[in-house]
Amino acid sequence: MIKYLIITTVPALFILASVIWLIVALVRRSRSRKVAGGLVVVEIAILVVLYFHWFAPKEFPRNYLNDAQQSSQTLAEAATAKGFYIGAAIGNPSMPSYANLVPKEYNSITPENATKWRQMLVDGKIGEYDFTQADAIVDYAVANGVRVRGHTLVWGKFSGRTYPKELDERIASAVDPAAELRQVMRDHITTVMTHFKGRIKVWDVVNEPMSMDGPYLDKHIYLNTLGKDYIAEAFQIAHEIDPSVQLFINEQFGNYTSEGVEVFFDLLKWLQEENVPIHGVGVQAHNIFKTHNLDEFRQFMNRVTELGLLFEVTEFDARIRLFDAAEDPYQAQADYITEYARICIENPNCIGFTFWGLSDAGTWFDYVPPFSSMLPNDPLLFDINLHAKPARAGIIEALESRR
Ligand code: G3I
Repeated sequence: MIKYLIITTVPALFILASVIWLIVALVRRSRSRKVAGGLVVVEIAILVVLYFHWFAPKEFPRNYLNDAQQSSQTLAEAATAKGFYIGAAIGNPSMPSYANLVPKEYNSITPENATKWRQMLVDGKIGEYDFTQADAIVDYAVANGVRVRGHTLVWGKFSGRTYPKELDERIASAVDPAAELRQVMRDHITTVMTHFKGRIKVWDVVNEPMSMDGPYLDKHIYLNTLGKDYIAEAFQIAHEIDPSVQLFINEQFGNYTSEGVEVFFDLLKWLQEENVPIHGVGVQAHNIFKTHNLDEFRQFMNRVTELGLLFEVTEFDARIRLFDAAEDPYQAQADYITEYARICIENPNCIGFTFWGLSDAGTWFDYVPPFSSMLPNDPLLFDINLHAKPARAGIIEALESRR
């Protein structure tokens, strides 16, 4: 996060400084006005180029619309036949795409926001739950024989958006902050897992424990109050509530060989040494500013599964603009998605691959800046008209060859 702030603020300050320099030089009729003027012109030219590269709306040919869809089975059928899950995140349960694509194409779903702590609370008040939206998503899935991934029980990032702001105030004013946080965490996990017992059979217990700024655990309210024990304790509580539920840790890596990866593996090994009931690792796999090195992804996944853990890709998306240099960007995107999924499908301990949205009509990139100004994002498997993009056929083929 700090990295992106620096990348955006430093050039903005630089431009501001040169504009001020130019104005002062013009007012004083200083000789440096030519240099300052030249600098401002160069900066404007760079901005224009960058704008057209990153922000100006683009349109790519949709050659896939001319291809016949030839597979004899749907994605969900192919996945179910091999004991694999192809999933999608569900934002708004009343969108027609939910009923159109689930259970036909997806045999797993993840509530995109509805099972996050803050989203289930009435006015953000700790302990006052309203499960209406989450139940709508979950009940439809369960009634249609679709697996539900619960997302997520403990997530210390983004106060007020993912967890209630009230928690910050409570812990800051508590006589014994550690005891208070432990109790609140236990109450939350207990309430939620009990409410969804029998309906949600896999939970992301801890989401994004790593920092986005460097190779260390994120220094948020949980880590600052309880140390890394918060992770172990969350898993222990979840296991006590329902020992039949699969418990995952969920993380995002832009680079599968970074120093942060080693810190993450140290964490996994520590959890296993402490006999913490952790069953699997989820990787989010958001392709935001660049695509990932797929050999490194395979090695990362193999390292996880060699620890005896399950593996899932839990939140995949890949912005179409990452493929804009290709002759056929939608085909290049499909090849990349298929290869990513194939690597996962080929590993028997990799049990699922979830897209972070049902179709290109419902992607978080379209409402989160700066991506909302970098259209199209189109990062998913079905387009806005719910037409299957070419990766669907590639994934079905990969599923057919799964052992
Ligand atoms: O529901 C409220 C609405 O009532 C209000 O009017 C509106 C005003 O801002 O906010 C709405 O909530 C927003 C919610 O999305 C639903 O649209 C939240 O502010 C916004 O923070 C939230 O963003 C979500 C984000 O996680 C933070 O929770 C995205 O939809 C969601 O796609 C994103 O998903 C995360 C995963 O959980 C973890 N991995 C990364 C992934 C992408 O960022």
